[in-house]
Amino acid sequence: MKNPFKFGSVVDDDFFTDRKHELSYICGIMDSENHLILISPRRYGKSSLVLKSMKQIGRPYIMLNLQSITDANDFATRILKAVFKIYPKEKLKHLIANFHFVPTVTSDLQTGNIEVSFNPSTNGNVMLEDAIMLLEKVSSANKKLIVILDEFQEINNIGKGLDKKLRAIMQLQKNINYIFLGSQESMMEQIFEKKKSAFYHFGQMMRLNKIPQVDFEEYLSKRLSTLKNIEYKELVSEIIKITKCHPYYTQQLAFQIWDLAYREGITKNLIDESISRILLLHDFDYERIWINFNNTDKKILQMVCSDENPLSNRQLPTSTTFSALKRLMHNGYIIKDEKYEIEDPFFRRWIINYNGQ
Ligand SMILES: Nc1ncnc2c1ncn2[C@@H]1O[C@H](COP(=O)(O)OP(=O)(O)OP(=O)(O)O)[C@@H](O)[C@H]1O
Ligand SMILES: [Mg+2]
Repeated sequence: MKNPFKFGSVVDDDFFTDRKHELSYICGIMDSENHLILISPRRYGKSSLVLKSMKQIGRPYIMLNLQSITDANDFATRILKAVFKIYPKEKLKHLIANFHFVPTVTSDLQTGNIEVSFNPSTNGNVMLEDAIMLLEKVSSANKKLIVILDEFQEINNIGKGLDKKLRAIMQLQKNINYIFLGSQESMMEQIFEKKKSAFYHFGQMMRLNKIPQVDFEEYLSKRLSTLKNIEYKELVSEIIKITKCHPYYTQQLAFQIWDLAYREGITKNLIDESISRILLLHDFDYERIWINFNNTDKKILQMVCSDENPLSNRQLPTSTTFSALKRLMHNGYIIKDEKYEIEDPFFRRWIINYNGQ
């Protein structure tokens, strides 16, 4: 039997659950003249959801992650490479012949891969503008291209003032729906909700939440019940209690439990043993992260671990606590649901163990 849980990369088919409302909402927006802005903390399932909706919609799309783009030149190159994958080469070669700086395009005959390069000394912004304008030219009104830009909050790290330049072109395009994804919530809000920002209200804002408990319970029950002699109901509620329906961590813990039970049999401390193995796997990383926190951050993390609201604790000046919380949230270690929580439930356990709380 194959482990029925998956964590880390994009999930689909048997590994994908729920998100029915979200899927139909995205399809609706892509069917209109509008763009979508999708925000959630890390690993809530943005990529999986968007790619699933692309499958349903069946229109051409390209997806670029801005986090791995180094400058405007690189951005332009990646757009062209993505476009070459889905549109006929002859048509494209003809269109790029009109660029201000004509790129070199070569194809590897064996792999079929296309390599695109611009002369590095040419103006990156101009190349990028040409590449963005090309998107509109290759798209068509009856099969509009969808352009997904992941980790869009990185836009101005790629090039200063790039947001204004892109928006000036994008706002005139008729045959493209853009999807902007981001996991740095406050930065995404700055870009799309601040009146002075170039992308102010550029599309429909959607926030992705955790997976509803009933759906996750059903998903877990169905898969865990395939194990022999298992009291799966209790197990399912224990898992949910620990991971609080976080998509990634729920799958991670369920994967570990299933693996252990399948290979070594069901034992009384199946959950504790599974958690210990996850902690062991991450021990080195967690320790490295921990020793790099300053003392204020450490204190605050410890308070959050013991379910204390750091802002009600008077040990530190409120302003110090506030800015530390902001920083820890910005870096993804703490999230605010109904209260402040450690984002990674296993890191929470590790902090408690490490500090002998
Ligand atoms: N609909 C879903 N059903 C079940 N599990 C899911 C679902 N969506 C996400 N997950 C779990 O969360 C993990 C992360 O999903 P995904 O990579 O799509 O999230 P993301 O928000 O794009 O993450 P990142 O912030 O790293 O880009 C998946 O590997 C899977 O374990
Ligand atoms: Mg993603």
